[in-house]
Amino acid sequence: MLSYRHGFHAGNHADVLKHWVCVMTAQYMVQKDKPIYYIDTHSAAGIYSLNDALATKTQESQGGIKTLWDAKLPAVFKDYMAVINQLNPGETLKLYPGSPWFVRQSLRPSDKVRLFELHPQDFQLLRKNFDGDKIVAIEKQDGFSGLKALLPPPTKRAMVVIDPPYEQAKEYQQVVSAMEQALKRFVNGVYLIWYPLINRNDKQSMSETMVRKLKNLNAKSFLDVRFWVSGADEEQGMYGSGLAIFNPPWNLEQQLNEGLPFLVEKMGLTEKAGFSVEYKEVT
Ligand SMILES: C[S@@+](CC[C@H](N)C(=O)[O-])C[C@H]1O[C@@H](n2cnc3c(N)ncnc32)[C@H](O)[C@@H]1O
Repeated sequence: MLSYRHGFHAGNHADVLKHWVCVMTAQYMVQKDKPIYYIDTHSAAGIYSLNDALATKTQESQGGIKTLWDAKLPAVFKDYMAVINQLNPGETLKLYPGSPWFVRQSLRPSDKVRLFELHPQDFQLLRKNFDGDKIVAIEKQDGFSGLKALLPPPTKRAMVVIDPPYEQAKEYQQVVSAMEQALKRFVNGVYLIWYPLINRNDKQSMSETMVRKLKNLNAKSFLDVRFWVSGADEEQGMYGSGLAIFNPPWNLEQQLNEGLPFLVEKMGLTEKAGFSVEYKEVT
């Protein structure tokens, strides 16, 4: 049942969008002294080799992080790229981090990290990658119920990443239900939900329906960012991705509008590549 391995997709255009946003959000949250909880409901392995059998089979990083590796980047990508450079001190890009690793690099000894992963192999890799890290706790448990049990966090500040594989249709509704409960328990959390843009009608409409439902939940502010490398009708499979964000940092919208034209330029495959950023505040 658990067939998804993130190693096939590590460093693709969707990872770049997600992880860049994760780093900017974490950097913003640690500007205040008060400790935070970082909760990752679907963590996967934490670090990926771009030369192993999984990554070389799909070569997805070619159209993603590899387009940025030698490029002169706008300042808004500095912190994101610093994490990658730290893992790859030589001239070649060999390793690509996952969401828990990216966010962990911004955190302090007083913060707490709670990671969930169900796949036996990725769970083992995750444990190995964070071995000895005192602020990190890892559970081989369903991330949706894990999240529920952790809210509200004792620190009253939290960043939550929800990044399911969406291999089963029910996951779209699980995200909505998890967010409904999460906002009831802890309305002030910063929640980032990743979703795919796929050019098969059924899946596309599942993402659209999920985002529409999320947008209508009782929250203080909501941002929807999307980045696509081609038009929906031009690419087989996933042509882009998005993040639905509750309580985003106040400067995130501006940072996204600064950086996204660069990603379109570097990773866009056709004239129809593009992005959108929509922000909604409830006053
Ligand atoms: C898209 S990957 C996560 C990638 C990771 N967040 C990153 O950005 O580096 C989704 C992961 O969720 C795991 N998974 C699937 N269902 C789960 C569940 N109910 N609870 C926890 N993990 C789950 C899969 O095994 C897979 O490793």
